[in-house]
Amino acid sequence: MAKKKKVGIILLSSFLTLALVCFLAVYFLFLHHYRGSQIDNPWREEDDFSISSIATVEKREGEPFVILNLADVQLCDLEDLFHLNKTKEKITDLLERAHPDLITLTGDQTWSNENLISLKSLLYWLDSFEIPYAPVFGNHDCGNEKDSAVLSRAACCDLYEAGKYSLFDRGPSNLGSLGNYVVNVTENGKIVKTLYFLDSGEEERISDEQISWMKWHAEGVKATQGGEAVAGICFFHLPLPEYREAYLRYLAGDASVEALGEVYVTYSLSGSEQNGFFEAAKEVGVTDIVCGHQHGNCFTLKYDGVRLTFSLKTGKLGGTYESEEFALDGATCISFDGDSTKIEPIFSEK
Ligand SMILES: [Fe+2]
Repeated sequence: MAKKKKVGIILLSSFLTLALVCFLAVYFLFLHHYRGSQIDNPWREEDDFSISSIATVEKREGEPFVILNLADVQLCDLEDLFHLNKTKEKITDLLERAHPDLITLTGDQTWSNENLISLKSLLYWLDSFEIPYAPVFGNHDCGNEKDSAVLSRAACCDLYEAGKYSLFDRGPSNLGSLGNYVVNVTENGKIVKTLYFLDSGEEERISDEQISWMKWHAEGVKATQGGEAVAGICFFHLPLPEYREAYLRYLAGDASVEALGEVYVTYSLSGSEQNGFFEAAKEVGVTDIVCGHQHGNCFTLKYDGVRLTFSLKTGKLGGTYESEEFALDGATCISFDGDSTKIEPIFSEK
């Protein structure tokens, strides 16, 4: 009888321990909200500019610098765990075909409130390629409503900054969002391109503060290059209204809008509202803008002197996008050398 009682106690305590472990795992993986580091690091227009504070990636002389942009990878802990390997297989294939010097990710790397496992897994895996990568936030990276996810924006910043090959920087704390930073591409010590990574928010516009900060950077870089402006590429998630305008003019046969390659538009072209961002970008020498967000669309249209690129959606399509009409899956390759720039989508073959 005593033996039976002992076995009963062991079984009960094992069950309670297992239940507690399960509860803690569910709580810390899916229910707890991680706030992340709250860092007060405001930027002011009168701040001194320091070129050494900007990350750089070196371009090999005489060879094109290749960027592979992954758009809307959209991982989710609960729903997409079983698609993770498939997505990784597709991205590995794209990386092997493009051989990029830099991987950029234009937002919505994750897309739901459950983002801890998927983001950690994605970053750990990206690091294994030993290629620098630079992500921006989309409208879903921190949950379906503002910062409603397990990882808040600041907590995502902590993880992105900890990535071994990550160039991500949360940037100033007073621009209206986090994750605004700059990377310079250098060739023999000379800056040949400035890459601006901006958070385009959640159905919002790029803030006046972000625009002023971008101009401040461009002026600072220019001063270090003997007063010579450096051409720039902007990466952010939500398309500008100019994308819609460019496409409508292209459709109407306006010869001033030039299509570079195929134009795929199978989804709404509504973008964010803006406050003169496009004009400001042109002013500071931006020649290219790369966005994601609208999965069924992929094009590069040269509009008013700027190439506007809708990056090809990467990985699992899901829902409506599985249908043949919307099924665009791959990544977009941007390469440049001197004054020549080539932009082309690479479609998934996996
Ligand atoms: Fe999005």
